[in-house]
Amino acid sequence: MVDETPPVIETPYVRIATLEDVEGIVDVMCQAFKHDPVLNYLSNAPKLLDETSDPKHHNHRRIFLRFLLKASFLVDGRITVVVDPNASSANEGAPRERIVAAAYWLPPNKRLAVWMIPTIVRAGALAVVKVWGLKPKLLFQRMIFDYQETSHGQLHHAFKRKGTKKSIDDTWYLQMVGTDPEYQGRGLMSLLFREAYTHDPKSTYTLEATTSKSRDQYAHLGFEDCISINFGRGKADAQGLTAKGEKAVGLEIYGMIKVGTYFFFTISSSHRHHYNSIVVTRSTTIAPGKHRSASL
Ligand SMILES: CC(C)(COP(=O)(O)OP(=O)(O)OC[C@H]1O[C@@H](n2cnc3c(N)ncnc32)[C@H](O)[C@@H]1OP(=O)(O)O)[C@@H](O)C(=O)NCCC(=O)NCCS
Repeated sequence: MVDETPPVIETPYVRIATLEDVEGIVDVMCQAFKHDPVLNYLSNAPKLLDETSDPKHHNHRRIFLRFLLKASFLVDGRITVVVDPNASSANEGAPRERIVAAAYWLPPNKRLAVWMIPTIVRAGALAVVKVWGLKPKLLFQRMIFDYQETSHGQLHHAFKRKGTKKSIDDTWYLQMVGTDPEYQGRGLMSLLFREAYTHDPKSTYTLEATTSKSRDQYAHLGFEDCISINFGRGKADAQGLTAKGEKAVGLEIYGMIKVGTYFFFTISSSHRHHYNSIVVTRSTTIAPGKHRSASL
């Protein structure tokens, strides 16, 4: 007798992450951010990371990425993941489904700030300082002043230029997004973004793209390419690797904004005409507790 029950196709889907997912997410980020210019710069890397020949530094980066993830959880970040139910996790004892992409969204007015010492320590900052061998002053200078403050300041000015009274802190901020390289180019980041837009369609979203490729992808997903931000000049090359002289041109990142509906209520009428060309993104509908899946 022929079984006519249609086969259950388990495709990747988006769900909210829990603390149990920490190692699975860090696995993904370690692969996705292996050659990321900002991470190269923050870790004072002299060359591109190669996990096979340099497991020690690979592990150091893992410790930093774990710190960033835990800090995002601690400041009430909304962490979402795409899981592939048909692939098993590399971590022993972990659930069968494998995390293949993740996004850390910090809600409006929830940010990690330099004065949050207990949070920073709880997230594991001391381990980062220890393994990276950087003087805490240098690490903080690079992380807080060179990167965060420069980019925050530039985005703040971009907001002002748009004529809004809103603060950049009133937006959802993308702390991080990454897709396992094996799964890139299959629409998984789009799933994460469209789920976020569905969750809070009226809010404004901000982020920094650390490469021109991700900048173009964010533009495709509705972000405007507002400002190009250069930092690390005189200390690092364009890949964020330690450099001197002519090669030390610094890194280029891109602060971007996706304007939500509420933005228009706080914008002066003289600036409204700038927004006729805003990209409207395809929306997704995810019922509470349900997930939209991607085809791989
Ligand atoms: C950036 C990154 C997360 C993208 O993830 P991904 O899952 O491969 O992205 P997707 O396949 O979902 O592509 C996103 C969208 O961009 C589109 N896109 C792809 N290449 C594009 C390009 N060159 N220009 C414009 N749009 C492009 C895709 O078609 C897709 O849109 P669609 O769903 O409407 O078809 C991934 O490349 C990554 O992890 N990179 C390393 C880490 C990093 O740079 N993170 C960002 C800085 S925080």
